[in-house]
Amino acid sequence: MSITLRSAAEIEKLARVNALVAGVLKELAAAVRPGVTTKQLDELAEQRLREAGAEPAFKGYHGYPATICASVNEEVVHGIPSNRALIEGDIISIDMGGKLDGFYGDSAVTVPVGRVTPEAGRLLQVTKTALDRAVAAVRAGARVSDIGAAVQSYVEAHGFSVVREFVGHGIGTSLHEEPQIPNYGTAGRGPRLQEGMALAIEPMVNAGKPAVKVLGDGWTAVTKDRALSAHFEHTVVVTADGCRVLTLPDQATAADERDSEAGGRLRRAHV
Ligand code: CO
Repeated sequence: MSITLRSAAEIEKLARVNALVAGVLKELAAAVRPGVTTKQLDELAEQRLREAGAEPAFKGYHGYPATICASVNEEVVHGIPSNRALIEGDIISIDMGGKLDGFYGDSAVTVPVGRVTPEAGRLLQVTKTALDRAVAAVRAGARVSDIGAAVQSYVEAHGFSVVREFVGHGIGTSLHEEPQIPNYGTAGRGPRLQEGMALAIEPMVNAGKPAVKVLGDGWTAVTKDRALSAHFEHTVVVTADGCRVLTLPDQATAADERDSEAGGRLRRAHV
């Protein structure tokens, strides 16, 4: 078993589908407001993916029934869209995968519904920054566990906890490829990162204790103590000196960048 290294042409395909996923996710996030149901968000997501010639990646995956995962408040991940209407003060994690031209994209954000408590706001900020720290740990020569160590140290320093049961993953011609990427652990362990590896990095952070359980629907993971949980995810490709984040809504493709070299450079994260 090994981790696939992607060619430049494959990376452009990954870039396209991930930019699409990120763009749709941005539209979904903007559509979040009191009264909107998670099923409405799901329908919008599927429509936008199909308009672009892509397919939902989660629908049918081990029998998962929808395009997005919509996880509200104490729901950690894999919440199934329903007629539940969002209310002011909720937080909602929206996770979406797409498939285009044989390659997969995967990204997640957590957004507030109207005004939320200060603790909820802090949870969102800390989880987002934990993802940024994780992305900053990625470069050729670093180790897989450097990513989880970066997440765990930041999250726990801010009084929150890291979910252990779900992990990030390699991504490419399958939604889930090697390696698994835990969001906790000691730096300097595990496989060495190499240029061309595509990784979906996705910290899940709880306001209370780390333990989670899966509800009777077989999918929805919730915090055991019912405290709030947040989730952010980027898909990146490892480069010599950092990584390229593919799940930015305005991420340029190589072709776009030849047209606009300076702009392309600005949109790359060399960290
Ligand atoms: Co993922």
